[in-house]
Amino acid sequence: MIGRAVRRREAVTAMAVDGAVGAVTDAAEGMTGEELAALQLRRLRATLRRAYEHVPFHRRAFDAAGVHPDDCRTLADLARFPFTTKADLREQYPYGMFAVEPSQLRRLHASSGTTGTPTVVGYTAHDLDVWASLVARSIRAAGGRPGDVVHVAYGYGLFTGGLGAHYGAERLGCTVIPASGGMTSRQVRLIQDLRPRIIMVTPSYMLTLLDEFERQGVDPRSTSLRVGIFGAEPWTEGMRREIEERCGIDAVDIYGLSEVMGPGVAQESVRTKDGPHVWEDHFYPEVVDPVTGEVLPDGSPGELVFTSLTKEALPVVRYRTRDLTRLLPGTAAHPFRRIARITGRCDDMLVVRGVNLFPTQVEEIVLRTPAVAPHFQLRLAREGRLDRLTVRVEARPGATPEQRAAAAAAIARQVKEGIGVSAAVEITEPEALERSVGKIRRVVDERPR
Ligand code: DLL
Repeated sequence: MIGRAVRRREAVTAMAVDGAVGAVTDAAEGMTGEELAALQLRRLRATLRRAYEHVPFHRRAFDAAGVHPDDCRTLADLARFPFTTKADLREQYPYGMFAVEPSQLRRLHASSGTTGTPTVVGYTAHDLDVWASLVARSIRAAGGRPGDVVHVAYGYGLFTGGLGAHYGAERLGCTVIPASGGMTSRQVRLIQDLRPRIIMVTPSYMLTLLDEFERQGVDPRSTSLRVGIFGAEPWTEGMRREIEERCGIDAVDIYGLSEVMGPGVAQESVRTKDGPHVWEDHFYPEVVDPVTGEVLPDGSPGELVFTSLTKEALPVVRYRTRDLTRLLPGTAAHPFRRIARITGRCDDMLVVRGVNLFPTQVEEIVLRTPAVAPHFQLRLAREGRLDRLTVRVEARPGATPEQRAAAAAAIARQVKEGIGVSAAVEITEPEALERSVGKIRRVVDERPR
């Protein structure tokens, strides 16, 4: 009886995933842990076979590691398979990683390529369908409902944020305002006139929008916004409080990356606000030691790694995200596990005089310091043979010289005591620091290479 129920649910899920009917959302709800594990194993084996048979890169990597897709008999066997890195995607630029003929691709997105060859990702019609349903599921978990008006201020274009959010919101039955990033004063006008209930935007650009509301003399708490779905960059609990209080909304975390899909790989529930649940029926997460690559038990901090379970165009096998987090048990969307807030990326970690530091650690400190605004920047320079860290933070409008001096001292003390490095703190005038229109750049590294 139970066996039949499991098979029926798998069939329903598979059917929904194949895009035949309805949303994935409902089929995935109420699964037991065993049902999920059985579904994951079946999909994992199919993904490994697909990668091996259709992507020469994966076939070579599996052969070199002495593994074959048939060796994956349990979910734990995945640990025997080789990792994939961003460098691998770059080397296979532009079409080398795809498991389908280019004519089967319906959309391409790409990273900016500011740091080298861009990485290109692609989607079949089916992949786009799954992506839309998972973003719809994410918006629902965030408190969105059909009929809501959703203001999308993630960038549209090659970045996955705008279009990813857009099609997900439409799939849920929402009305989308495709604002994209930039033209901030117009965004404020649109929000006042079109009365969206939900905004999807990077947390740093949300701050820019809040400042603009205030500049125009509009209290952001008086707007129609009730929910903000924030991601694409690290942010902290302090930032959540700042945004929630200034805007009177629920602020929830959405996670994703282009190589794995785009936004909507994991989503935090508005009910629990305790970290994003990974949509594990489509993405299998592992956390590994960033240095040795060893798989770590749930709860341990390490680098997040994903294997896609249903992707057609670009199946990813053990993709190293470089994002640092922990896997935690599911709550609101059990049996899916959660990830803790991303502390930062392995490659964003600053090493200052031998001490590791993430911008999010400074964000926590800045956001609990009175008289300064949540706008800060870390500047690194070299003086002789020593690194010099300067934390530049904006004063809140109206902060007195005494309050500014007290804030500088408090920040310097907490950076020293909490993180372990000495930093100069410069309190700037309001509006002195560069504003974000998308992903913010927190670090200006002026040290010679
Ligand atoms: O940023 C996709 C996305 C768009 C996610 C909109 C959420 C909302 P990429 O440009 O490929 O894709 O960048 C992915 O951004 O590896 C993380 O380092 C970071 N990131 C994304 N979401 C979060 C988050 C999109 N919620 C990279 N918290 C990832 C912290 C995040 N970092």
